Amino acid sequence: MKSLVDLIETSNRLDDDQLRALLTTTDAEVVDYLHERARAVAQARYGTGIFVRGLIELTNVCRNDCLYCGIRRSNRHVARYTLTADQVLACCESGYALGFRTFVLQGGEWGDERADWIAGIIREMRSRWPDCAITLSLGEHSREVYALWRECGADRYLLRHETHNAEHYAALHPAEMSRDRRLQCLAWLKELGYQTGTGIMVGSPGQTVDHLIDDLQFIREFRPEMVGLGPFIAQHDTPLGHYPNGTIDMTTRLYSLVRLMLPNALIPSTTALATLSPEGRLQGILAGANVAMPNLSPADYREQYALYDGKAHTSSEAAEGLRQLATQLATIGYHIDWGRGDYRKNLDP
Ligand code: 5AD
Repeated sequence: MKSLVDLIETSNRLDDDQLRALLTTTDAEVVDYLHERARAVAQARYGTGIFVRGLIELTNVCRNDCLYCGIRRSNRHVARYTLTADQVLACCESGYALGFRTFVLQGGEWGDERADWIAGIIREMRSRWPDCAITLSLGEHSREVYALWRECGADRYLLRHETHNAEHYAALHPAEMSRDRRLQCLAWLKELGYQTGTGIMVGSPGQTVDHLIDDLQFIREFRPEMVGLGPFIAQHDTPLGHYPNGTIDMTTRLYSLVRLMLPNALIPSTTALATLSPEGRLQGILAGANVAMPNLSPADYREQYALYDGKAHTSSEAAEGLRQLATQLATIGYHIDWGRGDYRKNLDP
C-alpha cells in the first residue's frame, strides 16, 4: 500500500481503485506515510513557510439557498449585514500594517446588479495597495462580471465546486442551481486569467467514496491553483443540520492526495478544520496544506457570518489572532511567510 503513495508522488496520478485504497485504508502506518510524503513535497516547494491571507467577510446577504449553509436565504435567524466600502478599506489598511499582502473578499452571493459597487471597491484596493493580491470569493456570476472584476485588478477567485457528482450536487442545492453552471463559472474564471481555486466540503450529507474519487480526478484535470477543502459541519438552522460532521481524518487524507497530485497547489488549512479540533489547523499543515486565512473582518460582525455551528471566531483583533497563529506554527517548526504567495507555475511537473 505504501507503494501507492510513492506512485502518486512520482506520477502525480492514481487510478480510481488506487485512490479508493488510500481513501479507505484503516492502516494507520499508510496514512502516516501519506501525510509524511505530502508534507515533504509541500516543503520542497514552499519550505516551512505558511502563506497568510486576510479574510474580509463582506456580507452575509445571499440570494442562494444551499441546504448546508447557515447564511442561506431562507434562514430567518441571521441578522443580515453588509460592510460599507469604507469598512472594507479600513480592514485592508489595518491588515496591510500587520503585514498581509493578500486580501480575500468573501461574501454571500448577490445578483449582478451590485457588481459595479464591488468593482469600485476592487479598484480602490488595487490603487491603494498595488503590491497586494486581491482574491474574490463571491459565488456565481456572469462571465461579464468576472471580466469586469478582473479588469479592476482582482487576481484570484475561489469557487468550490462542492461536489463533482451532478446528483449529489442537486441533493445539496436548490433546484435553480446546478453542477454544470458551477463548472461553467470555473471555466470562465480560468479563461479570464484568474488564479482559480476550487474544492469541496468533506463528509457532506450523501457523499460517498466514489464521489470523493470523482472530485479528486476532477481537481487533477482542472488544475486549479488553489484547492479549498474543509469538513462539512452541521448548522442547526439548515435542512441538513442533523447530519454528522465530516472528519479530520478524511479531510487531511484529501489534503495529502491533492498535494501529491498538484505539488504546487496553494492549499489552505481551513477554519472548518480548526473548528473540529484545536489541533485541526496544525494537522492540516502536517498533511501538506500551506496557507492560513486569518479573519480581518470587524469583530462585531464575525458571529453573523456563521456558515456552520461553532465556526472558530474569536472576538480578538486580527493582530492577536496572528500572534496565536505564529506561536502555534512554531510548535511544529513552521512560520508565517509574509509574501503574496502566488502560484509557482514555473515549478509545475
Ligand atoms: N460546513 C462546512 N462548510 C460550509 N460551507 C458552507 N456551509 C458549510 C457547512 N455547513 C463552505 C462551502 C462554501 C464555503 C464558503 O463555505 O464549501 O464554498
